Amino acid sequence: MPDERLTDRLILRRPTDDDIDPIHEIFSDPRVWEHFPTLRHVERATTAHMLARWQERWDETGLASWTVRLRETGEVIGTGGCTVLAGASPDADVWNLGYRISADHHRRGYATEISRAGIAAARNLRPETPIIAFLVEHNTASAAVAEKVGFSLVHRAPDAGNPGPAVMRLIYADRPLTDAQLATALR
Ligand SMILES: CC(C)(COP(=O)(O)OP(=O)(O)OC[C@H]1O[C@@H](n2cnc3c(N)ncnc32)[C@H](O)[C@@H]1OP(=O)(O)O)[C@@H](O)C(=O)NCCC(=O)NCCS
Repeated sequence: MPDERLTDRLILRRPTDDDIDPIHEIFSDPRVWEHFPTLRHVERATTAHMLARWQERWDETGLASWTVRLRETGEVIGTGGCTVLAGASPDADVWNLGYRISADHHRRGYATEISRAGIAAARNLRPETPIIAFLVEHNTASAAVAEKVGFSLVHRAPDAGNPGPAVMRLIYADRPLTDAQLATALR
C-alpha cells in the first residue's frame, strides 16, 4: 500500500516528524475542539506523542491517519483516515475513521473527500473489518460527514467518562457490528 495518495484536491500522506508543527497548530486551535474542549492539545509534546502513535499504527497495519495537504498550495489543512482499533480477537477489530480539519478550511467538502479515500484504503486492506466513526452527539458536522459517506447510526448512549455528564456518544458504522466489535469501538 503506498504511503501517499492523491484525491481531487488533496495529498494524503503518512505523517512524519516534520508534520508535528503544522498539525500542532491545528490541534491547539480551540475552534477545532468546540465539541470536546478538554482534549485540545496545549503542549507540542501532545501532538508529537500522537504522531508517534500514528506512525506505530502505520508500521503495524500499513494504514492509519494521514497528514492532509492541499494539492494546490501544499498547506497542511488537517488529518484523517482509517486506523485499526484492535479487539480482543481479530474478528473484534474495527477500523476507526477520523477527521480533523483546520477551522479556516471547514465546509469545503475536505472531510468527506478524506473519508472516502480512507474507506477505500481500509476496504482494500481488510474488507472484512467494519469501519466506524465515533463522535459526541452535539458534533453535528462530524455526524453529517459520517452520514454523507453512507454510515448508519449503530449506537447511542451516555459518554462514559466525559466531563459533561449529559454528553451522548454516537457510533456510526458501514455495517451492523457484533457485540465484540461494539465493545472494541467503545473502549
Ligand atoms: C467535522 C469536520 C471534520 C467536518 O469537516 P468539513 O471538511 O468541514 O466537512 P465537509 O465539508 O466534508 O462537510 C460534510 C457535510 O457536513 C456538513 N457540515 C459541515 N460542517 C457542518 C456544521 N458545522 N454544521 C452542520 N453541518 C455541517 C456539510 O454541510 C456537509 O454536508 P453537505 O455537503 O450535504 O452540505 C470539521 O468540522 C472539523 O474538523 N471539526 C473539528 C474536529 C472534529 O470535530 N472532528 C471530528 C471528531 S469525531
